[in-house]
Amino acid sequence: MDSGKIFRIGFLGMGTVAQGVWKHLQANREIMRQRLGGEIELAKACVRDISKRRAVEIPESKLTQDPYEIINDPSIDIVCELMGGTGKALELTLAALRAGKVVVSANKAVICSHGAEIFAEARKCGGAYFFEASVAGGIPIIKVLREGLIANRFSLIYGILNGTCNYILTRMERENATYETILKDARRLGYVEADESLDIDGWDAAHKIAILAYLAHGCWIGTDKMLVTGIRGIRLEDMIWARDFNCRVKLIAAIRKLENGALFASVYPALLPLTDVVANVNEVYNAVSLNGDVVGRTVHIGRGAGQDATASAVIADISDALKYLLGAPAQMSVADLAEPRMATLDEVDGDFYLRFEVEDKAGVLATIASVLAKEDISIKLLHQRKHDSSGKAWIVMTTHKTTEGAIKKACQSLSSLPVVSSEPFVIRIFDSQV
Ligand code: NAP
Ligand code: HSE
Repeated sequence: MDSGKIFRIGFLGMGTVAQGVWKHLQANREIMRQRLGGEIELAKACVRDISKRRAVEIPESKLTQDPYEIINDPSIDIVCELMGGTGKALELTLAALRAGKVVVSANKAVICSHGAEIFAEARKCGGAYFFEASVAGGIPIIKVLREGLIANRFSLIYGILNGTCNYILTRMERENATYETILKDARRLGYVEADESLDIDGWDAAHKIAILAYLAHGCWIGTDKMLVTGIRGIRLEDMIWARDFNCRVKLIAAIRKLENGALFASVYPALLPLTDVVANVNEVYNAVSLNGDVVGRTVHIGRGAGQDATASAVIADISDALKYLLGAPAQMSVADLAEPRMATLDEVDGDFYLRFEVEDKAGVLATIASVLAKEDISIKLLHQRKHDSSGKAWIVMTTHKTTEGAIKKACQSLSSLPVVSSEPFVIRIFDSQV
């Protein structure tokens, strides 16, 4: 399939990801022409600062600070929104769709908060919006859900969706290093969002699980309806003590459909048994485990962040954009369902790991046990770790199955006890049973 037409691409943003796309499309021009089914031309890129030094060489004539030079240029067919953020990115995405462009995006933040509006606009304009790079970097998970596993209903989707956090947790565990040290390397490698809190506090993974939830369940779940906790509170000791329970700490994003039909979306550091393949996915790699009612379980692993992995996904979308421009139907609609019922914290249960510091004296354990008993929480394993000569000790315990609601109340009561000198820190023990 080669129409002879040259398709012109405009870039909104020329940072880490866009430079990867530019580099690979330039370097593999001929093979890309054959595989994409058409000739492409890198027409123009909009940036904030034209004078900034970039790793790829771009003639100054192809750079602009005015995004509308791209959007209003009738000779540009495809607009790649690779600038990030939500305000300006939304405005420009909608404007590009209205101008009849096919839009390709890696921007999970704008899709999570404005996906319904963007897809509605694309439908209204008879255009197309492709977003493979928005979830799990180089893993083609959007295609997997929309095409390969179309026959399935999903009771549980979970995995590692933030490369930066996985990179930090892996290296903390291997090198006994603090997360601040490793964050610097993650920045240098281009994994980290411009706003680092998106990664560290779990919001980036929440944006991605919202997109997977939309594809799997046909409804948009805002981050305000999720349980979201990042990795800031994790200590090196947690990684070491997790081993005593044959587990590893990972930041897990999940969308679970309970038996009563309610949905529960979450992002939190979790203990995963070492026997789970996802627990053994390290560094910048992501993993997505899908439990489909027809296929059973499938697990998809690959680089979740970084220039080349993400460029691979963007180029796949450019290929779909070309096919669409050459007459193939757009793969964009998912049956939009009514507002989902989200599970309450009392409907969601599991086992928990708790860690807190106490005064090391008689009666303390009895007091703690009575607080837990009041919430009907049963202790499974308990370790006391003496960490210095201050007369204090760490209590590390796991519980039998209890609810999120009960743990929340127990932690509030524990933190108000005079003998407990640190906020109880909770790590969920992830239940991958469906
Ligand atoms: P980046 O390196 O920070 O690049 C952003 C680019 O956008 C820069 O070229 C910047 O211009 C330009 N820009 C930002 N605001 C602008 C504005 N208001 N007007 C004009 N230009 C503007 O970001 P990135 O890492 O490539 O990420 C781009 C998108 O991909 C984000 O949505 C991100 O979440 C997503 N993503 C990133 C990765 C990754 O591994 N990095 C992976 C998957 C998805 P200057 O160069 O002049 O500053
Ligand atoms: N900051 C993101 C991550 C980039 O670390 O996963 C990929 O979406």
